[in-house]
Amino acid sequence: MLEDIAKVLITKEELAAKTKELAARISQDYQGRELLIVSVLKGGFMFAADLMRELTIDASIEFIAVSSYGNSTRSSGAVQIMKDLDRDIKGMDLLIVEDILDSGLTLSYISKILETRGANSIRICTILNKPERRKADIDAHYIGFDIPDEFVVGYGLDYSEKYRNLPFVGVLKPYIYQK
Ligand code: IMP
Ligand code: MG
Repeated sequence: MLEDIAKVLITKEELAAKTKELAARISQDYQGRELLIVSVLKGGFMFAADLMRELTIDASIEFIAVSSYGNSTRSSGAVQIMKDLDRDIKGMDLLIVEDILDSGLTLSYISKILETRGANSIRICTILNKPERRKADIDAHYIGFDIPDEFVVGYGLDYSEKYRNLPFVGVLKPYIYQK
């Protein structure tokens, strides 16, 4: 697994420090309110777990899974819900937690759907952001790291379901997905 990584972009320690920092901001912003974290499967699960652990306010969690039709390194924007939330979100304060904001098509679709269900507020928190690749008109309120347009894996992010368990974010050697 490690031999497929060209370089480490963000270390485990940097991820942990940034997660703590974001959690502190979120805890402050939502003080006195009850936060519902919406974790986007699968990529966002690791960050959501780490972020939630650092929150000092009441928070609960729901999971949503979507499929995006595209090839394995680019999403097409055609999205379908594969696993929906288990509860009504009317009047709730939602924080959508994602691994990466890339074209933004996936998150734009998810937030539009959740908006129609009457949430009180919706914000997005992503650990990684690729601003150069944005296609949808969407931004995250809480961003961990802006990264260049390179295909990354680790800390929940996969290529072909592999590498999610790497504790850091690394750049995959291009020959792996060009094979
Ligand atoms: P978007 O709809 O283009 O913003 O893409 C969102 C999804 O594509 C993310 O949730 C990831 O699952 C996947 N994705 C985008 N860029 C990368 C990457 O560099 N590595 C791994 N997955 C990625
Ligand atoms: Mg994902």
